[in-house]
Amino acid sequence: MKHIYITTPIYYPNSDPHIGTAYTTCIADFLARYYKQRNYDVFFMTGNDENSIKVYETAQNLKIDTPTYINQMAELFKQIWQKLSIEYDKFIRTTDDYHIKTVEFVFNKLYEKGYIYKSHYEGWYCKSCETFWTKTKVSENRICPNIECQKPLEIVKEDNYFFRLSAFQEKLLKFYEQNPETIFPKSRYNEIVSFIKMGLQDISVSRKNVEWGIKVPFDKEYTIYVWIDALTNYISGIGYPDNFLEHYWHNSYHIMGKDIIRFHAVIWPSILMALDLNLPKKIIAHGWLTTPENQKISKSKGGDMFNLKNFVLNKPNYLIMGLRYYLLREGSFGEDIPVSLERFQQVYNSELANNIGNLVSRVLALTQKNLDSIVYKKSEFSFIHNFSQKTINDFESSVENFEFSKSMDSLIDLANFLNKKIEENRPWELANDKESLNKLMFELIYGIIFIAKLIYPVLPYISSKILDQLGIGDLNIDEKVLDKIEVRYRESLFPVLRSNADMV
Ligand code: MSP
Repeated sequence: MKHIYITTPIYYPNSDPHIGTAYTTCIADFLARYYKQRNYDVFFMTGNDENSIKVYETAQNLKIDTPTYINQMAELFKQIWQKLSIEYDKFIRTTDDYHIKTVEFVFNKLYEKGYIYKSHYEGWYCKSCETFWTKTKVSENRICPNIECQKPLEIVKEDNYFFRLSAFQEKLLKFYEQNPETIFPKSRYNEIVSFIKMGLQDISVSRKNVEWGIKVPFDKEYTIYVWIDALTNYISGIGYPDNFLEHYWHNSYHIMGKDIIRFHAVIWPSILMALDLNLPKKIIAHGWLTTPENQKISKSKGGDMFNLKNFVLNKPNYLIMGLRYYLLREGSFGEDIPVSLERFQQVYNSELANNIGNLVSRVLALTQKNLDSIVYKKSEFSFIHNFSQKTINDFESSVENFEFSKSMDSLIDLANFLNKKIEENRPWELANDKESLNKLMFELIYGIIFIAKLIYPVLPYISSKILDQLGIGDLNIDEKVLDKIEVRYRESLFPVLRSNADMV
């Protein structure tokens, strides 16, 4: 059996999940379901990055004690992910005991091997990005060089623990030259390789006298840098070191936004090399969801557009499925993607309501009305096989190349094709020719079962809704063996959206 391990970044719970964080999580869920459906043994993990100072400060500002606050936020994240049909195998929290133990183990091991050492640090630190900045990067105004942040930096002058990142420059370059497919897309690969070529400097991996976070095991005045702690979640979550599920680790896919690819493609692989562990199989960076004016969406900017929390907690399932579909089909994966409610409505109406939804509704209605709801397989099919095989091939190759928009095109092409067959064959004129009508409707329903199976990774709720209307309880059914199908009931899959009021 093939194994695959799929991860999202662990999110800072200093704010509610928004559409940007939902984007990463929906992609990861799509891939996890896709591989599960293809009989892989999948382990899909997401979770929260709780040891950050930002999280602590947010709790302080809200006058809630931090453990209570992070518990509440973990529940909120889980609730939102559940509503979005995110079917993770594990939700990791960096305050979990097993994770803390692994982080301590890793820190100790790196220290024993000489990859972590103590030295004096003097430099700039951005609390918001949890990032140390070298003097060369910081301009006179002393604000964070991260364009998205630009908050005032603090000067840090303290003895500190350093990770010997410089020792991995050549090894990393060699690895990436030999395994260029590790980083997706190619543009990010180029960015990472040129970043490494510019020279890697050792990085500070502790903070002194910081209240919140995991302490350096042998020097309790210090707290372990949140990124070292956070990145370690990818192995602590699958049991490293004592119960390490290595079969997953050998085929690990990390999915994240482009903003944090350097942590994942430079620091993390170096730590793994220092621990003598395999590097991730894939480091997949998507672009940002932006406002129509191309501003990165965050909680403060444009995050209220969908108001994810309100949307997923209060809207019907077909709209939530619509959002999953929209996030996967829009734009080109890897690039920034402008999103808006208007565009969502357009895509939903034209591709889901008027295409897939309408197809299913027409075919089921005609079968109910003119064939007493039952179709029989009495002869060979005439059109579905060639097209469906091509659709599967196109769908699978685009998913495996992370061209999700193309994958959605394949689904829509198939629905278009079946809708066209209805127009060409005019089943409403065959009411008195039951044999021809039965033949046509069986083939169309067969096509619909096919669509239900194919859309499962993106629209799981709709997939089971279609199969349920046809009395099929098992997604893995082999449709080839069906010789009779009964339409049990008919319910609109995607009611048309008439105005913004239907969405907000
Ligand atoms: N805690 C770190 C990650 C540690 S992973 C070992 C972190 N957390 S975060 O809460 O800031 O989430 C960052 C992730 O959220 C991004 O990498 C990206 O996956 C997602 N996004 C946040 N805003 C986004 C957009 N506007 N668009 C797309 N994705 C966005 O960084």
